Amino acid sequence: MTAIDRGRLAELTAREQEIFIATHPKSQEAFERADHLFGRVPMTWMNKKAGAFPLYLESARGNRIRDIDGHEYIDFALGDTGAMAGHSAPAVVAAIKYRVDHIGGLTTMLPTEDAEWVGAELSRRFGMERWSFSLTATDANRWVIRLVRAVTGRSKVLFHSYCYHGSVDESLIVVGPDGEGMSRPGNVGSPVDVTETSRVAEFNDLEGLERQLAHGDVAAVLIEPALTNIGIVLPDEGYHEGVRALTRKYGALLIIDETHTFSAGPGGMTRTHNLEPDIVVIGKAIGGGVPTGAYGLSAEFAEKVLARTDLDLVDMGGVGGTLAGNPLSVAAMRATLGEVLTEAAFETMIETATVFTDGMNQLFAHYNLPWSINQLGARAEYRFATPYPKNGTEAHAAADAELEDFLHLYLANRGIMLTPFHNMALMCPTTTVEDVMQHHAIFEQAIVELLGE
Ligand SMILES: Cc1ncc(COP(=O)(O)O)c(C=O)c1O
Repeated sequence: MTAIDRGRLAELTAREQEIFIATHPKSQEAFERADHLFGRVPMTWMNKKAGAFPLYLESARGNRIRDIDGHEYIDFALGDTGAMAGHSAPAVVAAIKYRVDHIGGLTTMLPTEDAEWVGAELSRRFGMERWSFSLTATDANRWVIRLVRAVTGRSKVLFHSYCYHGSVDESLIVVGPDGEGMSRPGNVGSPVDVTETSRVAEFNDLEGLERQLAHGDVAAVLIEPALTNIGIVLPDEGYHEGVRALTRKYGALLIIDETHTFSAGPGGMTRTHNLEPDIVVIGKAIGGGVPTGAYGLSAEFAEKVLARTDLDLVDMGGVGGTLAGNPLSVAAMRATLGEVLTEAAFETMIETATVFTDGMNQLFAHYNLPWSINQLGARAEYRFATPYPKNGTEAHAAADAELEDFLHLYLANRGIMLTPFHNMALMCPTTTVEDVMQHHAIFEQAIVELLGE
């Protein structure tokens, strides 16, 4: 297997950093002027970047982004899934404009009829009968955690190690060296020790899951059906059947977070893998770029919650937000689900992602690189390890920040944008095979330089 010469990697990264700085003076200036922003950015994670400063957005359409220095990028990051429908998809823009220009009413305290349409469509896709909306997937997760605790009377929620479900306190847990749960490194200001609220098991480890569930204090297992925030870690054959059987055996509810795994198809992995959750959470992509989130409850669970007249679901009991379900978000969801992220669109997106994956496999083989790639419908992600990791801890260990930074910078300097958090490439309905070929040509050029061939 070909080894990476670290000295050469450092030299090439320094060269790419110089090119980046020289060709983005306006972004650099904007960043240096941003004295009133915490960390100089609108949101601190925008400092997760390979370049010396973030690129400033001028405009975005479909899968193209333009920065304020006039460079255009083929965008495979797509807002880390928030723009899976493509930037400013015409149908979403039309729905927003209609609400803004013709009807009026961005936030009132009244429901709109679009909401039932969206609920019915989400039911058709994901199978849950009763839906409620939030503005982020994080909030949807927070609220369902409250509901499951209230109904089961149990205190803990179980997660996969190295999961990500938003900034949800309970989820910041990993499996420690002794096999037991511990706080995720870097956890900011946790209210209590996370092991008081949570349990954790490795992905694909049914024995570990059963050991944790056997304590009898788990209200729900809240998981992504494939890990997507630490590379794409796919479930082993039979894993999900095992999870469902164990949750039933130990009386825990099953919450499936489809926020990213929605890339698998119109009904996410819930549909492709015939999962039987009690609750589904989703966010980001379903609003076509407008802030939204949603959670769907099985009819049975919804009835149990509603029967609990002691729970304050309509005022200040801890579930809800003033702007959740606002007319603009709901109109955007209706347009995105009804006209953009359709069954036909998924077919094209998945075909394009397959071309991406096959091409990367060929490059890894040709250059004898010990790297591997996993595909989940419309998204693919490579890791600097082979075979591909099977759980979060392995995937975490396979990260290589130096290599990642070099590749991201090299690609960005040549008009290709990857998501800054990972080596993930997502296809939207307007991503073409030519775009993928362009990525591969530049990626190959980077490898040739790196290997000094
Ligand atoms: C699986 C999953 N759930 C929830 C979230 C949180 O989404 P948001 O940041 O929109 O709240 C994310 C964000 O990446 C996610 O990947």
